[in-house]
Amino acid sequence: MPMRRPVFRIQSLNAQNEEAFFSLARELFPRARIHLLDSDRVWLAYSGGEAAGFVHLRALPHSFYLQGIGVRPVWRRHGIGRRLLARAMAQAAQTGSPGGLILKVRAGNSEALAFYRSCGFMVERVSLSSWRLRWRSPN
Ligand SMILES: CC(C)(COP(=O)(O)OP(=O)(O)OC[C@H]1O[C@@H](n2cnc3c(N)ncnc32)[C@H](O)[C@@H]1OP(=O)(O)O)[C@@H](O)C(=O)NCCC(=O)NCCS
Repeated sequence: MPMRRPVFRIQSLNAQNEEAFFSLARELFPRARIHLLDSDRVWLAYSGGEAAGFVHLRALPHSFYLQGIGVRPVWRRHGIGRRLLARAMAQAAQTGSPGGLILKVRAGNSEALAFYRSCGFMVERVSLSSWRLRWRSPN
């Protein structure tokens, strides 16, 4: 029998869920310094009342930069990361950004690499410490 996907909803960042975003981001990336610019876009995935994941997108002059994406361990492999990333990709596509969406991933983070590749990202540059990936809208 196929596994049933859990029900979750995606919310844009607002005054009510901002604290949930910071709390989740700090929990998932304890060593990162997380700050928001006014022009950043953030979406949270909720399952019931619980914030299960987030994606944080920053506009650059000719592209978008994926500042961060994370899903709580218990919620991984349920399609939440893909749905969140799709939001960020849609934003890049709608804006007609010529450089598309770029991100850096730590070289040893093979799970994240597999995730991004499965979502259509191409490896653009490889160094010992990190890989740079890019996605461009086909349209
Ligand atoms: C990377 C991350 C956001 C993926 O979120 P997720 O909700 O588990 O991803 P999804 O369930 O949407 O996975 C979509 C596809 O990506 C691939 N994928 C995801 N996690 C994977 C893993 N651990 N190993 C191999 N492939 C993986 C699969 O193809 C998967 O499709 P499938 O489950 O139908 O096989 C999540 O693992 C995470 O939060 N990791 C820790 C934080 C992190 O490393 N963030 C990225 C920093 S650059």
